[in-house]
Amino acid sequence: MGSLKSHISAETVGKVITCKAAVAYAAEQPLVVEEIRVDPPQRMEVRIRVLFTSICHTDLSAWQGQNEAQRMYPRILGHEASGLVESVGEGVRELEIGDHVVPIFNGECGECDYCRSEKTNLCEKYRVNPFRGTMVHDGKCRFSTKDGKPIYHFLNTSTFSEYTVLDSACLVKIDQNAPLRTMTLLSCGVSTGLGAAWNTADVQSGESVAVFGLGAVGLAVVEGARTRGASRIIGVDINPEKRIKGEAIGITDFINPKDLDVPVHQKIKDMTGGGVDYSFECAGNLEVLREAFSSTHDGWGLTVILGIHPTPRLLPLHPMELFDGRRIVGSVFGDFKGKSQLPQFAHQCVKGEVKLEEFITHEMPFWKINEALQLLIDGKSLRCLLHL
Ligand code: APR
Ligand code: ZN
Ligand code: ZN
Repeated sequence: MGSLKSHISAETVGKVITCKAAVAYAAEQPLVVEEIRVDPPQRMEVRIRVLFTSICHTDLSAWQGQNEAQRMYPRILGHEASGLVESVGEGVRELEIGDHVVPIFNGECGECDYCRSEKTNLCEKYRVNPFRGTMVHDGKCRFSTKDGKPIYHFLNTSTFSEYTVLDSACLVKIDQNAPLRTMTLLSCGVSTGLGAAWNTADVQSGESVAVFGLGAVGLAVVEGARTRGASRIIGVDINPEKRIKGEAIGITDFINPKDLDVPVHQKIKDMTGGGVDYSFECAGNLEVLREAFSSTHDGWGLTVILGIHPTPRLLPLHPMELFDGRRIVGSVFGDFKGKSQLPQFAHQCVKGEVKLEEFITHEMPFWKINEALQLLIDGKSLRCLLHL
């Protein structure tokens, strides 16, 4: 692994760096791969050399400018990555130049009431916040165009760049022996899905699960349920091609809602004798959420929301429906406390307890990023790994 150090140089430490990044200038317009300037890290910040990044659906929604929070330009998107520490700002104690790291969009300062509570993985200061486009420390951008115009940050991370600056609370140190290529997936999709099954729902051996939306997030839920020994894992997707990957990872049944003449929840109830123990909404769609909710067993069913839903629509439920004993809960970053729990999760992945390789369907050089975006739009990729 020592060879990776050639990607960073002592000469750039603490100075402004000029490097390549993919900049979003307007909704739905191709990202522009161009030279930008990246300032050195300020107090409690770290600058990293990104070696791999991949595109998650949340980057896609931001690129499409679906929510008001996302229409901030120019901006560098991207939140799934891995890389090396290149410079550390004043006050940073736990990270050093050359450390292998994975960014987390949902940071952990370790000191606030939230970080000290076992009931949440949201940090007071560094929790995921789509409205923030600048650094917490001084409300400024560390990126600028070559003619000096500030470029906004995204989800505490902005990984579509050779170099990026993050709060140290948003970086997890990973064992030097873990392959960074697959560790990239822990930055969002795989941790989010797997953690929803392990931590949020806490699926037990012999229980039944329905997963709505078989993208990388949904398939990571499938992987989480499989590793816990779930007896029935029903995958639901309107794209029939998702069945193949779903079966490779562990679904026991596949439902394409378009092939049914009854609602999906009816079919699931018939298949399971009253409904599944858990359902997971991984499509970011309210009709899907409604079906997921109605698919669980009354008395104890739990629906976990992972999809990001466009504003301003509200939950499609009548409050009295909750009196039937079905519960519904949201899960951010799979309820993992990133900085303290991800190193152990990474270790389990390296030992082979979790199949990571299945999630990488494509790889290409970073400058082809618009092609990678299109693959996700067309439903052809799970994760396309971009090499920087
Ligand atoms: N019913 C069932 N499945 C659907 C539906 C629907 N009505 N609409 C979309 N899907 C499926 C898509 O076919 C796709 O396979 O949901 C899947 C979404 O997967 P990706 O686009 O690969 O997204 P992913 O990165 O897995 O993120 C999942 O989490 O980030 C949020 O809201 C975002 O929708 C995204 C979700
Ligand atoms: Zn993501
Ligand atoms: Zn905190």
